[in-house]
Amino acid sequence: GADVEVDISAIEPGQLIRVMWRSKPVWIVRRTPEILAELGQHEDQLRDPNSENEQQPAFAQNQYRSMKEEYLILVGICTHLGCSPQHMKDGAFEEYVEGVPEGFFCPCHGSKFDMAGRVFQNVPAPLNLVVPPYQFVDDTTVIIG
Ligand code: FES
Repeated sequence: GADVEVDISAIEPGQLIRVMWRSKPVWIVRRTPEILAELGQHEDQLRDPNSENEQQPAFAQNQYRSMKEEYLILVGICTHLGCSPQHMKDGAFEEYVEGVPEGFFCPCHGSKFDMAGRVFQNVPAPLNLVVPPYQFVDDTTVIIG
């Protein structure tokens, strides 16, 4: 079928892995407590912090945008014109948004997203990164689709 089963047991804290789902790149990030704590600190700079302007699963309409807070699962395609944003970590994202150490930067036209895939203001991307449908079958196995 078109669904993809992923073993997430080996993902280290802070690590991002990529899988393909229906010919799209999907990212799975194991967020650290520091990343999770920071999500609430820059919401005044976001276009749509609670994903109210989009068709998204109900569990994604909040600051974490995930079924389990620790695991962020996103379609890794910029909502502007479809480029692949880059994961900037360990302070590298501060070059793009002061005070925010980690996020995603799209090199095509400069859109910026936080560690929940939420788009910052004043960039060309109109919407947050898409959360795909998924479900956990156990603590370490997720099915995308
Ligand atoms: Fe990402 Fe244009 S495609 S900013």
